[in-house]
Amino acid sequence: MNLPLLPTISTSFIVISAIFIAIGWILIAQNKRKQHKYVMITGAVFALSFFILYMSRTIFIGNTSFGGPEDMKIYYTIFLIFHIFLATTGGVFGIVTLILAFKRNISKHRKIGPITSVIWFFTAITGVAVYLLLYVLYEGEHGQNLFQAIFG
Ligand code: HEM
Repeated sequence: MNLPLLPTISTSFIVISAIFIAIGWILIAQNKRKQHKYVMITGAVFALSFFILYMSRTIFIGNTSFGGPEDMKIYYTIFLIFHIFLATTGGVFGIVTLILAFKRNISKHRKIGPITSVIWFFTAITGVAVYLLLYVLYEGEHGQNLFQAIFG
């Protein structure tokens, strides 16, 4: 199997980031505050690295359009839009969660933190599914612009 380098790295970054967020959640449940802080910041750094890598690839190389059967394309497109929606929401929630933490607005941080984490878990799961559909189960067409990649 010939896996593409950059998408494999960026998808791994989302997964690693989600694992750190899960560990960070366990840590704060055990009241390990310092570890929670550093593990969550590490998770955020991986999420940011994913974003930078993904955007650079979109700008400099182009995205990939779905290479599976024609009648599956519509389901793929809906799923991809769902994933993009989750990732964007997760990113915004992540920034707000971090700002609340650093401003020591801990009561609001505690309320939004679990929501951010769950959105991020689903972003990672759907991200892996998109990766599998584009590169592993079927062979997508590379070098497409973002619009072509989403809508074919
Ligand atoms: C799973 C839900 C979450 C809960 C219940 C939670 C809870 C908390 C609590 C109680 C603190 C205060 C610890 C203290 O008193 O020092 C804290 C701090 C912090 N949290 Fe969370 N958190 C959650 C998710 C997150 C997420 C998703 C991030 C970032 C991606 C994050 C980043 C931080 C940071 C950086 C601090 C340290 C703030 C500082 O000391 O200046 N947390 N969190």
